[in-house]
Amino acid sequence: MGLCFWVFEKSWRMLFLIQWLMISSYNVASQRVGGRGWDGVAITEADFQGLQAFKNELIDPKGYLGSWNDSGIGACSGGWIGIKCAKGQVIAIQLPWKGLEGRITAKISQLQALRKLNLHDNGIGGSIPSSLGLLPNIRGVHLFNNRLSGSIPPSLGLCPSLQNLDLSNNHLSGFIPPTLGNSSKLYKINLSHNSLFGSVPNEIAQLSGLAFLAFQYNNLSGSLPFDFGRLSRLRTLDLSHNFINGTLPRSVSNLSSLSTMNLEGNNLVGQLPEDIGKLHNLSVLNLKRNRLDGLIPRSIGSLSNLKELDFSFNNFIGEIPDSLSDLHVLRYFNVSYNHLFGLVPVKLSKKFNSSSFIGNIELCGFSPSTPCLSQVSPPSQLPQEPISNKHRKGRTKLGVKDIILIAAGALLLVMLILICTLLSCLIRKRAAAKEEGPTTTSGRDPPERAEKRAQQAGGQVEVGEEGGKLVHFDGPMVFRADDLLCATAEVMGKSTYGTFYKATMEDGNQVAVKRLREKIAKGHKEFEVEVNLLGRIRHPNLLALRAYYLGPKGEKLLVFDYMPKGSLATFLHARGPNTQVTWTTRMRIMRGITRGLFHLHNNLNIIHGNLSSTNILIDNNNNNARISDYGISRLITSSASVTIAPMGAPGYRAPELAKLKRPNTKTDIYSLGVIMLELLTGKSPGDATNGEDLPRWVASVVKEEWTNEVFDLELMRDASTIGDELLNTLKVALYCVDPLPSIRPEVQLVLQQLEAIRAPDSATSSSEYGED
Ligand SMILES: *[C@@H]1O[C@H](CO)[C@@H](O)[C@H](O)[C@H]1NC(C)=O
Ligand SMILES: *[C@@H]1O[C@H](CO)[C@@H](O)[C@H](O)[C@H]1NC(C)=O
Ligand SMILES: *[C@@H]1O[C@H](CO)[C@@H](O)[C@H](O)[C@H]1NC(C)=O
Ligand SMILES: *[C@@H]1O[C@H](CO)[C@@H](O)[C@H](O)[C@H]1NC(C)=O
Ligand SMILES: *[C@@H]1O[C@H](CO)[C@@H](O)[C@H](O)[C@H]1NC(C)=O
Ligand SMILES: *[C@@H]1O[C@H](CO)[C@@H](O)[C@H](O)[C@H]1NC(C)=O
Ligand SMILES: *[C@@H]1O[C@H](CO)[C@@H](O)[C@H](O)[C@H]1NC(C)=O
Ligand SMILES: *[C@@H]1O[C@H](CO)[C@@H](O)[C@H](O)[C@H]1NC(C)=O
Ligand SMILES: *[C@@H]1O[C@H](CO)[C@@H](O)[C@H](O)[C@H]1NC(C)=O
Repeated sequence: MGLCFWVFEKSWRMLFLIQWLMISSYNVASQRVGGRGWDGVAITEADFQGLQAFKNELIDPKGYLGSWNDSGIGACSGGWIGIKCAKGQVIAIQLPWKGLEGRITAKISQLQALRKLNLHDNGIGGSIPSSLGLLPNIRGVHLFNNRLSGSIPPSLGLCPSLQNLDLSNNHLSGFIPPTLGNSSKLYKINLSHNSLFGSVPNEIAQLSGLAFLAFQYNNLSGSLPFDFGRLSRLRTLDLSHNFINGTLPRSVSNLSSLSTMNLEGNNLVGQLPEDIGKLHNLSVLNLKRNRLDGLIPRSIGSLSNLKELDFSFNNFIGEIPDSLSDLHVLRYFNVSYNHLFGLVPVKLSKKFNSSSFIGNIELCGFSPSTPCLSQVSPPSQLPQEPISNKHRKGRTKLGVKDIILIAAGALLLVMLILICTLLSCLIRKRAAAKEEGPTTTSGRDPPERAEKRAQQAGGQVEVGEEGGKLVHFDGPMVFRADDLLCATAEVMGKSTYGTFYKATMEDGNQVAVKRLREKIAKGHKEFEVEVNLLGRIRHPNLLALRAYYLGPKGEKLLVFDYMPKGSLATFLHARGPNTQVTWTTRMRIMRGITRGLFHLHNNLNIIHGNLSSTNILIDNNNNNARISDYGISRLITSSASVTIAPMGAPGYRAPELAKLKRPNTKTDIYSLGVIMLELLTGKSPGDATNGEDLPRWVASVVKEEWTNEVFDLELMRDASTIGDELLNTLKVALYCVDPLPSIRPEVQLVLQQLEAIRAPDSATSSSEYGED
């Protein structure tokens, strides 16, 4: 427990999680008072017996299962902690961190509708019941961090829907059942930190949808499956700290999505396949502590995304290929304790210190104390001896340290990520009219037409028995209400309108979900009219609303594309020390925001009202800016919007807003101007600019004719070529932040001026600017 609280203190995110939990339990409490369940159906006899048996075989020292009483009343209406049902059948059991002991009953197979079994971080022992294999719908099995022993039941391979299997950090032994290769939907499989032995079954390599394979810290031996070719979606391959021998099969070079390959601490021999250079997405390559030999392939130099390379403690021979100088994003490099010789490429010796190269007796030029005497002269004799044992002694000691580190990391990670709310499985009703409407949203529809409009917008409507309803707008996402509600949710932020989550579904799909505060949202009908208008807005610089969900208890969720790069604020102010944001990128972002705002103001008649660098999101592909949070005020009641509508974020708020009741186009332009200044100066409006707000600070510096002091130092490096562009952009920005609203230009003019400063980059010609 002490550790837990430490983690809590460490992480502000955790605080949000606790609040999320409190919200959920508040909901549960209110349901109990309300009596009727959310799907209004009593639990079936078979499921009731299944749950009773489940409880009977667990030990519950903290009494969490007290709510599971003998009457069965409330089992399916939120009265039983950790249970979610649909149509009287249990679809999820979620009881992580409950101090549970005992074992998992074999009668679990009576819960025929079960989709998710989540019991991680308890003290549950015994073995995994093989009757789990009789559950046709099970998708997620999360049993990590328990005391499970015995072997993994081969019957798990009979679960046709299984997507996510995490049994890590238990006491499991025995073989990895080859039948797992039959669970063709598997997306993530984590068996790490157990005592599994035998080899990695070839059948695993048949799982063409697999993205994460984590078998590290086991006693696996034998050689790797020779045919990795089909794992084309595999992103992480972690087999570190096992006893795997044999060579690295050539087929690894077919793992075209691979981003992390960790094979540290095995007994691999032979040479690296030259084709390894085909793994263009590879970012981490760790082959430390094996017995690999031969030359380091020249093609490694073409792994342009490689950030970490560790080849230490192997038997590599020859020179370090010059091509490795091409690895521009490399930040960790270690080839120590091999049999390398010759001159270290200059770029590498400049970037990395001698501890990356030590233990190679004939390697030179990487530090002043290792000068190259003659010109690269191969050593008289290539080292013939396999390994010098003295370099391998550290193994166990380091292993223990690593275990502790990794376990601590795992604990943190696990605490950060959490459970979800989850309401029901639904009967699906589809309306699949494919017509795409134009994106104008002037008129207002009568409420009864809302659903129809959703369909016109390419929407799919899913209606559940109990009233929960998911409406999809057009877009690439294919998920159902239950996928969404079973997703793992992580809080990303909070605003006056509600809470923002990152939701990760069992199949790895990620979306951003905004849960509107219930009291402030408009009633169902009115809400639907407005949300259907918002859902039809499509513009490359506006974050698209992909779907909405209306829960049976009035909860309202908005589903957006998830942008892993986060907000402009993070992109600009919280980046790593060696990452630059070039002028080209900044200009593209500025123009993107302006275009998005132009579309809002001129085509949609929407005032944003709350523009700031935290609600501009950055697209993964080409650093395209996307405005989020627009139009939300239309979804909340007018009384609430007067009292709680944010009058612009501090630092971005136009001065006249203090008097005005409502934002207008000119207050939006002011915020846009502040964002432009933010991009020009690299300073956050909240930051220390000597207590002044950013526009005033800039104005004062410019007045003193120290204009160049204003710009971000990083931009000044190229001042000779872009100086005029910076100045002209600064002028536009200063217009936008003029204290007098009447002086500020309309967005159309801003756009024209920005485009005159530099030729516009359209989506098609973005390669011209594709510097990152
Ligand atoms: C069982 O629990 C439900 C809900 O938690 C409650 O309404 C009911 O009164 C309880 N019944 C008994 C016999 O304790
Ligand atoms: C599993 O797949 C293999 C082929 O890969 C097949 O021979 C076997 O019958 C399958 N097992 C089951 C139980 O479906
Ligand atoms: C796994 O390997 C470790 C380290 O060699 C050993 O202590 C342990 O007994 C092994 N476990 C099994 C189940 O073989
Ligand atoms: C690899 O390990 C297995 C099991 O430990 C052993 O039977 C086999 O001989 C080893 N192969 C090589 C090439 O060392
Ligand atoms: C890689 O995949 C291609 C096409 O799928 C196949 O022809 C080739 O044999 C594979 N290479 C290896 C080494 O498995
Ligand atoms: C490489 O990674 C990027 C981003 O992580 C992804 O979009 C792309 O599809 C990946 N490429 C392959 C071949 O999987
Ligand atoms: C070499 O660099 C690493 C970090 O890259 C640092 O931890 C280490 O102290 C440095 N060693 C020497 C000898 O400078
Ligand atoms: C490289 O690995 C060796 C051996 O583990 C270690 O001593 C050295 O500190 C490492 N170098 C870096 C830069 O981490
Ligand atoms: C697998 O489980 C371990 C231990 O629980 C954890 O550290 C690791 O991050 C997990 N890996 C994946 C890919 O989920």
